Amino acid sequence: MPSRTLAASSYMQYAKLRSEAKYNLAASGVMSYPLAELPIKLEDLEINGPTLYGYEPLVERLAKLNGVTTDYVVTAQGTSLANHLAIAATLEPGEEALVEWPTYELLTTTLQYLGAKVRFFDRGLEQEFRVHPEEVERKITPQTRLIVLTNLHNPSGVLIDEATLCAVGEIARKNNARVLVDEVYLESLFEQRPRPAIHLGDQFLVTSSLTKAYGLSGVRCGWVLANPELARRMRLIHDLYGVNAAFPADLISVIALDHLDRVAVRAKQLLNANRPVLDTFLRSRDDLAYVRPQFGTVAFPKLQNGSVDQLDRLLREKYETGIVPGKYFGEEQHFRIGIGGDPEMTRIGFERLGKALDEMGQ
Ligand SMILES: Cc1ncc(COP(=O)(O)O)c(C=O)c1O
Repeated sequence: MPSRTLAASSYMQYAKLRSEAKYNLAASGVMSYPLAELPIKLEDLEINGPTLYGYEPLVERLAKLNGVTTDYVVTAQGTSLANHLAIAATLEPGEEALVEWPTYELLTTTLQYLGAKVRFFDRGLEQEFRVHPEEVERKITPQTRLIVLTNLHNPSGVLIDEATLCAVGEIARKNNARVLVDEVYLESLFEQRPRPAIHLGDQFLVTSSLTKAYGLSGVRCGWVLANPELARRMRLIHDLYGVNAAFPADLISVIALDHLDRVAVRAKQLLNANRPVLDTFLRSRDDLAYVRPQFGTVAFPKLQNGSVDQLDRLLREKYETGIVPGKYFGEEQHFRIGIGGDPEMTRIGFERLGKALDEMGQ
């Protein structure tokens, strides 16, 4: 009998078991949105309902949000399952994926679990975390069937502009490959959000959710946008993961989508308060090399000298402060910091991070 390798993710274990801290700069999204602030009454909810291939009112709202027809929308439990479905529908075992480096580890873990061969192209600090289509062209092979990007980039928060996406799309088209763009952080541009990459050509697939920008992770409202034929394929694959969705969560998602402006107001307030704190912090540190992200919830500075593991230990043991060591993104000298938390907590977190860095430099 063939055996399957356990798809253990060291990043996920870290995020779930070890990332908590009083001053938490490790979280990548906007802090939790309180249920009490949504106009929901108990009688609006029900246990069971028609969710078999997506709850229609939810699918309709997601289609409208993304400017597509409903046959392009596949609902899924978070961007996580959306990515899984998108990969499973586009790659056969043994086929090759070309993935940005660094990237969100779960993308490569899922690709490997589903039997894909993974190659990388560089979009590191030396490239200011930009995607250079020439680099994609250099790394693509005749076996490549899927190019994988995050936009905004996790871990750096850098935006890929539409011209670059189109250039990557053209490389994919010429090579009979597709482009998967995980846009979960793009939602945090709110009214400035560019149109989803699904509008750039039939070879694109997009995944996203209400998790990062809106603080609504618990409702697991994720989706894939893909051409109707691929979308149908994903719905069939989704059959293997369950009969129906969590109906109360879908009902809450519909209400949240109907009041998304209200949810966004709080998120924007948090990010507008915290971004200047991040900027001031970064500008004040000549022991870090960095790209200042214009948008989003995270940044990924590089510690020029010294050990990030040691910094992480010092922060946790003495300063009660959490960061994500860059080793979870394959970049040992970097660390990821998030600005989606409570402003007072974030301000103190950055102060403490500064103190720990000063102490390391002595
Ligand atoms: C790039 C990326 N995609 C997907 C996810 C998971 O999102 P969700 O909570 O919607 O499953 C994360 C979470 O960190 C992420 O960073």
